[in-house]
Amino acid sequence: MSKVIAVFGAGTGLGVSVARRFGREGFRVALVARRKDRLDGLVERLAGEGIEAAAFSADLSIPAEAPALVAAIRDRFGRIDAIEYGPISGDQGFTAATRLDAATLEGLIPLLLLTPVEVVRAVLPEWTERGDGAFLLTQGYSAAQPIPHLSGVGPVMAAARNYLYSLNGELADTGVYAGTLTIGALIERSEIAESAALASADAEALANFPVADPDDLAAHYWDMYTKRDRVEQFHPEPPAAQATAG
Ligand SMILES: NC(=O)c1ccc[n+]([C@@H]2O[C@H](COP(=O)([O-])OP(=O)(O)OC[C@H]3O[C@@H](n4cnc5c(N)ncnc54)[C@H](OP(=O)(O)O)[C@@H]3O)[C@@H](O)[C@H]2O)c1
Repeated sequence: MSKVIAVFGAGTGLGVSVARRFGREGFRVALVARRKDRLDGLVERLAGEGIEAAAFSADLSIPAEAPALVAAIRDRFGRIDAIEYGPISGDQGFTAATRLDAATLEGLIPLLLLTPVEVVRAVLPEWTERGDGAFLLTQGYSAAQPIPHLSGVGPVMAAARNYLYSLNGELADTGVYAGTLTIGALIERSEIAESAALASADAEALANFPVADPDDLAAHYWDMYTKRDRVEQFHPEPPAAQATAG
């Protein structure tokens, strides 16, 4: 039975590129996001490239629903071998630290911290029994490197990154892998990059950000999945001083 990757937060940016990269290697693909019509479009695109995919409409900001979602994917495909977790939308914009409040953080925590923990809990028994599996957590650069005016998501992603590092260490001898890709660039073809929001509040802070091709990011993930030799991959690679801090 061929392997399966589940892309949690599947859109036109990184999500479909990860699906395509693993699909090229023979993986079947589960695509998870809220909007079914967009998912169906991605499933059709992948089918046109000879990749078997199925859409799962779900709101990942509800952690309690993660076990049923994982079970539904397993029911459809018979197994799950890898998960890429990177849901994001315009609702998770940056907030300056001086304007940050508890309500904003509370709004971000379910999607960016609680649900990934519950997803891992739901899939770990299958992976530890098989002695194989991979959880790939996508983050923004502010998870590792605090940036003035770009707070909000950063502190929450930093907590998820902290968890991921512990998970990686605890699973070291089990055959199960946990790794994170930390991205300091606007992702081409993503809704975020194309969003009109960039023309307003965040524009100044983001003006100097590099741009990344999601196919290159997906290639990082394939390399991490096959080699399992690092807990974290930065893109772009940070200057040496920051790398030692990260
Ligand atoms: N885009 C960037 O420029 C950028 C920069 C740095 C880091 N990153 C990171 O890279 C990852 C992927 O980014 P991307 O923009 O390229 O992704 P993408 O694959 O283009 O799309 C992500 C998808 O997540 C889905 N999503 C959002 N909220 C969700 C929710 N509550 N439940 C279920 N699905 C949800 C959205 O679809 P629905 O709205 O239909 O649910 C969206 O299409 C994220 O971890 C992000 O933090 C992105």
